[in-house]
Amino acid sequence: NRMLLWQRTAYHFQPQKNWMNDPDGPLHYKGWYHLFYQYNPDSAVWGNITWGHAVSRDLIRWEYLDLAMVPDHWYDINGVWTGSATILPDGRIIMLYTGSTNDTVQVQNLAEPADPDDALLRNWVKSDSNPVLLPPPGVGLKDFRDPSTAWFVESDSAWRVTIGSKNREHDGFAMVYKTRDFVNYELSPRPLHVVNRTGMWECVDFYPVSTGSGEGLDTSTEPGPGVKHVLKASLDDDKHDYYAIGTYESEGDTWTPDDEGSDVGIGLRYDYGKYYASKTFYDPVKKRRVLWGWSGETDSEETDLLKGWASVQTIPRTVLYDAKTGMNLLQWPVDEVNSLRCGSTNFSSISISPGSVIPLHVNKASQLDILVEFEIDPSALTSTVEADVEYNCSTSGGAAGQGALGPFGLLVLADKNLTEQTAVYFYVARKVDGGLRTFFCQDELRSSLANDIVKRVYGSSVPMLDGESLSVRILVDHSIVESFAQEGRTCITSRLYPTKAIWDAAKVFLFNNATNARVTAKSITIWEMNSAFIHPYSNQTNS
Ligand code: FRU
Repeated sequence: NRMLLWQRTAYHFQPQKNWMNDPDGPLHYKGWYHLFYQYNPDSAVWGNITWGHAVSRDLIRWEYLDLAMVPDHWYDINGVWTGSATILPDGRIIMLYTGSTNDTVQVQNLAEPADPDDALLRNWVKSDSNPVLLPPPGVGLKDFRDPSTAWFVESDSAWRVTIGSKNREHDGFAMVYKTRDFVNYELSPRPLHVVNRTGMWECVDFYPVSTGSGEGLDTSTEPGPGVKHVLKASLDDDKHDYYAIGTYESEGDTWTPDDEGSDVGIGLRYDYGKYYASKTFYDPVKKRRVLWGWSGETDSEETDLLKGWASVQTIPRTVLYDAKTGMNLLQWPVDEVNSLRCGSTNFSSISISPGSVIPLHVNKASQLDILVEFEIDPSALTSTVEADVEYNCSTSGGAAGQGALGPFGLLVLADKNLTEQTAVYFYVARKVDGGLRTFFCQDELRSSLANDIVKRVYGSSVPMLDGESLSVRILVDHSIVESFAQEGRTCITSRLYPTKAIWDAAKVFLFNNATNARVTAKSITIWEMNSAFIHPYSNQTNS
């Protein structure tokens, strides 16, 4: 089938056709979740950027609406680019977005719903004052984009917005503007934060996290005991989303990372795979912070044009501070995705000896939610083995490589002969000092027989506390696999294009390629996932 229909996702959001990139202005309003997104209505490649729009009651079952905004003014005629929503205490919705002007200068614009009584927010009015912000002196005309959600500071009763940029030295930074009316703005003399040589910061996100409770915080929660602030930038140079946890001083509007060695752009990533231009919003209904991220294609543009579509959004993730490690965030698919789980298959205590591959019998393995807990034979952990100096998922041999204590894990989107397989695995490396370091990786190298695919081994180390067993959750949906290790401390997303391991021919296996460690899969639950049946909005089904 030349349309490659099996690559369409069943429960990950994607438009009916054509190109999509960043999520924009996610929000909850009058019972509906809204997702806007960078969308080319004319083609499966980037261009003519408008705002696509969809609504859902549960963040999973989406209904497409008409375009929310199109390039129709001099200040956005070359594209209605990325932006964010702010809901004011009186319920008014402020949408700030970047416009690429008739001279392709990046400016910030304001839009508001035409009818606040329309829960679907179908029509938007662009402000007569647009553009409300031009690139300030010293900032490149094309280095000024993606305004954040605004936050309010009591002490001077003003809102703040942050916008990413880069300077002449190629340092990435986030500038701060103060505003009271979202029309007039004052640039803060100091940036929120700068990191040397990280290049252009796109889609900067800035939000508080609670260090004590398991709840999300409204964006305007002020710094204080039990509150830290996360700063995220999408690095244009390497197309990954980096975050760091730190402290925000509202006096002067600066932010400092807890650990300078793990600063924004040089430390932690939300996701070590194909994941970019993400954005969070606060969901007041379930008191949680929800993260959206764009997962682009890794096949060729030619194939995308043939298919007639490109890109998916990852399943929205709840974001929490990891109070156990105190070092990282936890990301976990929103609970609503569990409502797609159909029949489950359980396995317990499967012993996987070194060098073995064990099939797990499930029916429709192209749409799955998998949860597994592993244990490495304790005697292998204490035996003296040679140190693995500086293991690195990306430069390792992937799942085909061998060490004393790994790799072991699962093969998904695999055909019965394993000519196609994507490995999701752990690798425990012994450090020179004898201690252990655990890595979580995803190997795409054997994922497809097609010849136009960029394939990588992705991954990173995952923090482990004493006595913890290894756990992984994997969402499989035709051409995307999202994996979460240790309750979401380390996450990896891959786009995959099997040619044989499709529909019912897709299988799941356990594997252990370690040289001497027996591994036990203590518990395994595999749910088949229903489709989300994403469709155009129709009044009848929702009145
Ligand atoms: C990130 C990005 C943004 C920009 C938008 C344009 O992917 O480049 O910086 O606003 O996409 O579509």
